[in-house]
Amino acid sequence: MSDSERSHWPAVERRGKTDRRSGSDRRAENGWTAVHLEGSPAGEGALVEAARRARLHARADYSRFEVGAALELADGSIVTGCNVENASYGLTLCAERVALVKALSEGHTRFTRIVVVANTAAPTPPCGPCRQLLWEYCGDIEVILANLKGPTARHRMSALLPLPFDNRLLK
Ligand code: THU
Repeated sequence: MSDSERSHWPAVERRGKTDRRSGSDRRAENGWTAVHLEGSPAGEGALVEAARRARLHARADYSRFEVGAALELADGSIVTGCNVENASYGLTLCAERVALVKALSEGHTRFTRIVVVANTAAPTPPCGPCRQLLWEYCGDIEVILANLKGPTARHRMSALLPLPFDNRLLK
């Protein structure tokens, strides 16, 4: 591997079986920097608190990485989720997807924001599969990332999934 390739993949290079550092520590090492957020949009505090409380129910016996999510509906109400792991590992459900399928299964169709809370200094963004589902069912909602102290980043789904595969391509 050339030097330029190596510098492109520092996390993969450094992450070994014995590397037990948290994701946030590795992200800091890889050049992640904190985003200063101005102000707090209306209702965001309640949404962050709902995600923080949902995180307390996380079933993360295998990774010990507990996540809570709070999805805001167009009418302002909130549906929460937490990650749910199991012995197969691969069937893990992320907090975002749990909140989303709960909301969909109750007939909700219009969404405005989602908060994701984890106990990390660096923001914990939705994984790839969650981005796909959030995009398809929620559209270009706001994604607020937070830790136990409060919000650390805000994004739009269109920024997190800039070239989506969705039903427009199936027509
Ligand atoms: N996880 C989430 O629930 N949401 C995220 O945004 C990132 C990852 C969960 C999945 C798994 O249970 C644990 O965190 C470690 O990956």
